[in-house]
Amino acid sequence: MSLMCAWSPTSWQEKPALQQPVYPDPSELKAVLAQLSHLPPLVSSWEIEALKQQLAEAAAGKRFLLQGGDCAENFAECESDNIAAKLKILLQMSLVLVHGTHKRIIRVGRFAGQYAKPRSENTETRDGVTLPTYRGDVINDIAFTEASRIPDPQRLLRGYERAALTINFIRALIDGGFADLHHPEYWNLDFIELSPKAEEFQEIVNSIGESLRFMEVLAGQRVEEMGRVDFYSSHEGLLLPYEQAQTRQVPRREGWYNLSTHFPWIGLRTAEVDGAHVEYFKGIVNPIGLKIGVETSDEQLGKLLDVLHPDDEPGRLTLIHRYGAHDIASNLPRHQKVVQASGKTVLWCCDPMHGNTERTKSGIKTRKFEHILAELEQAFEIHNTSGTYMGGVHVELTGEDVTECTGGARGLSDEDLKDAYKTQVDPRLNYEQSLELAMLIAKRVGAMSGD
Ligand code: PEP
Ligand code: CO
Repeated sequence: MSLMCAWSPTSWQEKPALQQPVYPDPSELKAVLAQLSHLPPLVSSWEIEALKQQLAEAAAGKRFLLQGGDCAENFAECESDNIAAKLKILLQMSLVLVHGTHKRIIRVGRFAGQYAKPRSENTETRDGVTLPTYRGDVINDIAFTEASRIPDPQRLLRGYERAALTINFIRALIDGGFADLHHPEYWNLDFIELSPKAEEFQEIVNSIGESLRFMEVLAGQRVEEMGRVDFYSSHEGLLLPYEQAQTRQVPRREGWYNLSTHFPWIGLRTAEVDGAHVEYFKGIVNPIGLKIGVETSDEQLGKLLDVLHPDDEPGRLTLIHRYGAHDIASNLPRHQKVVQASGKTVLWCCDPMHGNTERTKSGIKTRKFEHILAELEQAFEIHNTSGTYMGGVHVELTGEDVTECTGGARGLSDEDLKDAYKTQVDPRLNYEQSLELAMLIAKRVGAMSGD
């Protein structure tokens, strides 16, 4: 192998890198990266290996992955209520999913580093003024002024610090047992009676409550004292200098770990086989996600499996498919064939959000709950028919009562979107819609397994 081909945390710099900001002062970026590469890691190699093991079990049909969180975190929302609410909804969804799937759930948040966004346009024009586009808080500021939109290397440090604060609080909440959140009495279930499936939903809730009480009686202690629930972190590995600076070797283990997160993923727009992102991801030993969609050709997927998953290592690769409700039926089967032909094992995970983004008549970005559900339903159906295991869902959600996606039991309309539309990028499911979706998945999987 020539030296040119040797992988290192910086070898991506030899390849074309899409979606990267251009920093006005490269020497400032260099100084920031030097600092960042000496700061302590946010996660540990043993946590990463534990997650990889669990993902391997999910790929083998024994576990189910729930990955969710904001489309983009932002620095201002790094505050306690917001983080606790996100953890609460993910935990409650996972309890509902345990109930439906009878499988252990792997909980992965899109948090503690989800600060960089791929954009379809490099510029944004308002009232005749054109400025560079907003790329996420780790890169520039959303305010529409020239100064705000200049990429600022100091933001890498601010992003690392916010990620550290977030993960620190999450670890503390989990260690504290997260107390009452396990119990349906503390859930906000007002939406249930608005649903035509009210009775079935109520049954799920009752039965979760009974199971928890039953376990507590058997064990003689409260559920939260019985052992820790695990939460793992994930983000799109988009801003390569940030990822590079936290890619390290650790004592007594082989390989390079990205220690900024447990589970980084490659976005749809940066998955060129010869591009910088794939170059970076091929050399790290973390479990990784790869987004695939209508745009992903069979040839590209075949090559990506070779490059990113050469040894068929259990748990290494999760394919997160995001086609849209109208396109999944004509695209998932061709991708399944490519994977089958490779002879490799992957974890299949459905992202029913990103292929279903649309605009209302007045131009607001939204998603319809019924389309999200329809894509998920088809994903379960197609995998079931072809004998592959649909082992996870990837959703954009928040624990707050926002109005960004339409539909759900409360029947949010285009008109309602203005009430609490807060996202800076993609529309998220709110607390109720997220719980409802989990209940519908639980019912679906339960029905499939004949329960
Ligand atoms: C995302 O997950 O927010 C995203 C941009 O997804 P994709 O790469 O699938 O478009
Ligand atoms: Co998104």
